[in-house]
Amino acid sequence: MTHKIAVIAGDGIGTEVMPEGVRALQAAAKRFNIDLSLEHFDFACCDYYLEHGKMLPDDWFDQLKDFDAIFYGAVGWPDKVPDHISLWGSLLQFRRQFDQYVNLRPCKLLPGIKSPLANRKPGDIDFYVVRENTEGEYSSIGGKMFEGTDREVVIQETVMTRTGVDRVLKYAFDLAQTRPRKKLTSATKSNGISITMPWWDERVKAMSGSYPDVSVDQFHIDILTANFVMHPDWFDVVVASNLFGDILSDLGPACTGTIGVAPSANINPEGKFPSLFEPVHGSAPDIAGKGIANPIGQIWSGAMMLEHLGHHEAGQAIVDAFEAVLAEADPSVLTADAGGKGTTESLGKAIAERIAG
Ligand code: NAD
Ligand code: IPM
Ligand code: MN
Repeated sequence: MTHKIAVIAGDGIGTEVMPEGVRALQAAAKRFNIDLSLEHFDFACCDYYLEHGKMLPDDWFDQLKDFDAIFYGAVGWPDKVPDHISLWGSLLQFRRQFDQYVNLRPCKLLPGIKSPLANRKPGDIDFYVVRENTEGEYSSIGGKMFEGTDREVVIQETVMTRTGVDRVLKYAFDLAQTRPRKKLTSATKSNGISITMPWWDERVKAMSGSYPDVSVDQFHIDILTANFVMHPDWFDVVVASNLFGDILSDLGPACTGTIGVAPSANINPEGKFPSLFEPVHGSAPDIAGKGIANPIGQIWSGAMMLEHLGHHEAGQAIVDAFEAVLAEADPSVLTADAGGKGTTESLGKAIAERIAG
């Protein structure tokens, strides 16, 4: 069976880490006899916008809907296109139109990478952020009044639906149930945001009745961020709204030394639409063009994609390979964020060779 993968490199370091993501995928496909058919697309990046006045062609949905998965780099280049235009015109459309309502983001302290937190070693930080990915604080409902006057008013609504919240909570509870610690933490802000957040807490409580073996705790987002830094070992599966999940999924990887290694899976669990796999990081204009971006976030996202497509062994082989290369800690191979002097390519090639076995 052939898996059809749409490949979109995007902007900035997206175009540098994507070749390494593809290299790792191809090495795993060869070793495990997986038939991958990769098709590259040049849209969903800022140069496409400059040429066409839009981020996506009008028929993007039909072009992509029959792929088994989408492998994305990063998008955004604020000097070319304002971020809210480039992001709402591409990535956020994919997530919404393909109903990828779970954004699964592992945070794991890897061998050989130094945590900025004192005395933390691999094993101490190993949890998932499960982020609601299609509604919440990311809404286009709102508007401006009295624009340009000193009475100017801007309003943007938070939208939470029972279907939308329950389905991501269910995913998080199910995931917690598969983990040895079976622990779920919910992130809210129910003391200050008095309608949506207490309601989210109620939905968690209601669902916890169906998962008696999962222990549940809840923190307000402010102290939760402090606890990520002070007690990252407390966490197993952390479920959060769209915005809170966004913030926690940069903070978590920062606690593991670099956001350059963090992967994500934007999942439509029912498989009605393709899911999308991309690193957590963005296009990093500050280092783009230098060939020094860490490709592991892209490579690990590829591993999550293979896992999603049912190839557990191949996904695990990719993870084992980058963990082994990191553990060797050869500074000529590792990128600067991981403590080395190497390049995107030197690290990507070392990982691909290890995958090949
Ligand atoms: P960013 O993630 O691009 O960069 C933040 C910092 O992390 C920078 O210092 C960067 O050099 C570093 N960094 C990021 N990835 C790295 C890697 N692989 N290796 C080493 N260092 C790495 O975040 P930003 O600067 O806030 O955003 C830049 C652009 O990317 C904006 O247009 C933003 O909207 C967009 N963005 C896109 C995505 C996405 O496509 N999913 C995610 C975040 C930001
Ligand atoms: C992410 C990014 C996006 C988000 C931006 C670029 C719109 O930060 O994937 O985490 O907020 O979801
Ligand atoms: Mn983010």
